[in-house]
Amino acid sequence: MQQTIRPAVRLSGSVMLPGDKSISHRYAMIASLAEGTSVIANYSTGADCHSTLGCVQALGIPFEEEGTTVTIHGRGLHGWSAPAGPLDAGNSGSTIRMMAGLLAAQPFTTTIFGDESLTRRPMARVMKPLTEMGAKFEARDGQFPPLTIRGGTLRPIEYTLPVASAQVKTCVLFGGLFADGQTIVHEPTVSRDHTELALKEFGADIRVSRKVITLQGKPTLTGRELMVPSDLSSAAFFLVAGLLVPGSHLIIRNVGLNPTRSALLDFLVSVGAPIKVLRIEATNGELIGDIEVRHAPIRGGVIEKDLAAGLIDEIPVLAVLGAASEEGLIVRDASELRIKETDRIATVADNFARMGIHIEVTPDGMRIPGKQKFKAAAFDSFGDHRIAMAFAVAALRADGESTIDNADAASVSFPEFWNILDQTASA
Ligand code: S3P
Repeated sequence: MQQTIRPAVRLSGSVMLPGDKSISHRYAMIASLAEGTSVIANYSTGADCHSTLGCVQALGIPFEEEGTTVTIHGRGLHGWSAPAGPLDAGNSGSTIRMMAGLLAAQPFTTTIFGDESLTRRPMARVMKPLTEMGAKFEARDGQFPPLTIRGGTLRPIEYTLPVASAQVKTCVLFGGLFADGQTIVHEPTVSRDHTELALKEFGADIRVSRKVITLQGKPTLTGRELMVPSDLSSAAFFLVAGLLVPGSHLIIRNVGLNPTRSALLDFLVSVGAPIKVLRIEATNGELIGDIEVRHAPIRGGVIEKDLAAGLIDEIPVLAVLGAASEEGLIVRDASELRIKETDRIATVADNFARMGIHIEVTPDGMRIPGKQKFKAAAFDSFGDHRIAMAFAVAALRADGESTIDNADAASVSFPEFWNILDQTASA
């Protein structure tokens, strides 16, 4: 699908975005291991979270979907049954990596595969700790999907993550659910803690002391009602669009404001964004609230070290903002960008070249001078949802009509993106 985007004169309105992708995956997976029924409201409408539901169903756990409410009928920690065939994780790194921890503990062998992009993403980072716990793997070239996981009895481990990755942390903790005793994970920097909060909500004994997480194995998890906050990483596109387009004023409602995710808001405020939190409350251990953004000039800055890990999903759209900022943007310590749904350093640079924006690419980041003019262009998402949406935002500031090829990639996390953009942007 190709989308045409006209320059916007302003963005305005009050919007509700779909449920958080990270939290939806975790609620679905944990609910499938809980005893009894869980009702999950505002479940992500994205294809990725439906890949997770498809896997759970193939493992013998029934669910129903009514609008954005998903009801999952868990059968307890040992309630999964061998699937009839390989599991399909689609485009979803979270599905394959987090499910790997759970599949490693099953008394059967499972193969899990994904689309062409997922097939290029490294899995050694989850195979290593799970192998230490006692699982056995076969993978293409030793580390790429499809993964065949020979599950069995897992041992608890104490594991230090070599890279800051919430997916790997989750995978180890998920394996630890089935191990006798304590599984302990040390993180290099604090990554999103949705798994820890969700496990606690379902009744697990899990303790967090800054970068050390301790989980007691073999808990009884109990089905429950949960509400997923809207996705701050999806809100990022509208926050940046609001900042970029003169005259804009947007309110984004019921968005997740978990402190391990909100580096985005702190960073934007630190570079001059007039973003206000209008309301905040706690739901299922997660913070949720309404935020307001208005157009303003942005200074620009540096994203590096822990901040690079905390903003990793938002860097493509922040790169767009950086090109329009006063002083430009430098990104370092972000080599993880190269192994996302696409090599996001390369796909950002490719689309920047199409619109006449100067960028210097480095092995672990980019340098983007500020105050650049945005020319209308024919962009490509390269099949990456965040690239599709980042360049739709860039197109709002361009000097004419732009197109985005493979724009349907946005559906991986945010199928409503194009409609909401259409409703909020005045051409
Ligand atoms: C996610 C963790 C991050 C992020 C991804 C979702 C999660 O990946 O980029 O979009 O839900 O745990 P890494 O764990 O690879 O950093």
